[in-house]
Amino acid sequence: MTQIPLSRPPVDDEIKQAVLAAIDSRQYILGPQCREFEAELARYVGAKHCILSNSATAGLWLTLRGLGVKAGDEILVPSHTAFPTIEAICFAEATPVFVDADEFYTMDAHDAAAKATPRTVGVVPVHLYGQPVDVDAARGLASRLGVWMLEDCAQAHGAAWKDQKVGSFGRAGVFSFYPSKNLTVMGDGGAIVTNDDEIAARCRRLRDHGRTNKDIHEEVGFNLRFNDIQAAIGRVMLRRLDAMNDHRRALAARYDRALAGLPLGLPEERPHGRHVYHLYVVRTPRRNELAAFLKARNIQTGIHYPVPSHRQPAVEKFAPPPLPTTERLVDEILTLPISAGHTEAEIDAVAKAVREFFGA
Ligand SMILES: Cc1ncc(COP(=O)(O)O)c(C=O)c1O
Repeated sequence: MTQIPLSRPPVDDEIKQAVLAAIDSRQYILGPQCREFEAELARYVGAKHCILSNSATAGLWLTLRGLGVKAGDEILVPSHTAFPTIEAICFAEATPVFVDADEFYTMDAHDAAAKATPRTVGVVPVHLYGQPVDVDAARGLASRLGVWMLEDCAQAHGAAWKDQKVGSFGRAGVFSFYPSKNLTVMGDGGAIVTNDDEIAARCRRLRDHGRTNKDIHEEVGFNLRFNDIQAAIGRVMLRRLDAMNDHRRALAARYDRALAGLPLGLPEERPHGRHVYHLYVVRTPRRNELAAFLKARNIQTGIHYPVPSHRQPAVEKFAPPPLPTTERLVDEILTLPISAGHTEAEIDAVAKAVREFFGA
């Protein structure tokens, strides 16, 4: 039996041709493909600026530097996220203040409000699994506290809140182009989007050694640049993004129908949100058994994420408090295969195996 992978990035002739054309152009770093991709992505999100970088982790760090974050600043962030969200905050020398999850697995704005202090400078909501956070609640919180909001959109290209794309609500938003993401460049890559001229200029400078021109280094930056071969892939993917997200949504609806009635928590879409199903995450106390059952049938699953960020050894020094909802959910969540490259037949095969597991 062939394996059903968790995710399958698309590979076809149009993408290969785009790569070959970029190679032939002999312009490889921050060249015309990068500039076009930046302009097209900014337009897609509805933001004034887009700054490409070589990962979302780098993009988050650049943005935090652009926002002027300094040692001792506190940043409200959900624990239930990929660790890089937290890592960028730590790398910017700020303190992550861990917030519990709500019933949609995203940041609980009430818990965030309770954890704010006079040292709070910002909030980093994460549109996890492709589901937008409650943007009104997150934005309301940031404005009541008088702090900035930086959206982690690494898993949510094309997701929307009240018909407006994520990444356009905060002072800035950051996307990842890692191979499994809704928009990939078939390698590492990331982008910052913002309407703020100053943040954009600072991020552009910092990603390229702090340079304002070829010879002048205004400040100490780093090499966090992007490249034209991957930007060429990103441009093809961006043109397909809405269709790929529609496909993901159709596959998710197929799972919803096939798995209804089982003793299994299914993903729920938050009112006013357009979920783009970066991941299809189900929930059961029998998670480990179900994962083993599917593995035996050549079906790959994942856990996003088994160890919550606030329980990672790397952040022990912040002495994070317990987060009951997060700690409960991480033992029960299981990610089933989904991507723009999956077929309906594959989803049906996975759903059939899950039904078998529950004796249905
Ligand atoms: C929510 C979230 N934030 C940040 C990142 C970091 O992205 P990258 O791998 O592009 O650095 C990821 C990637 O897994 C992510 O899922």
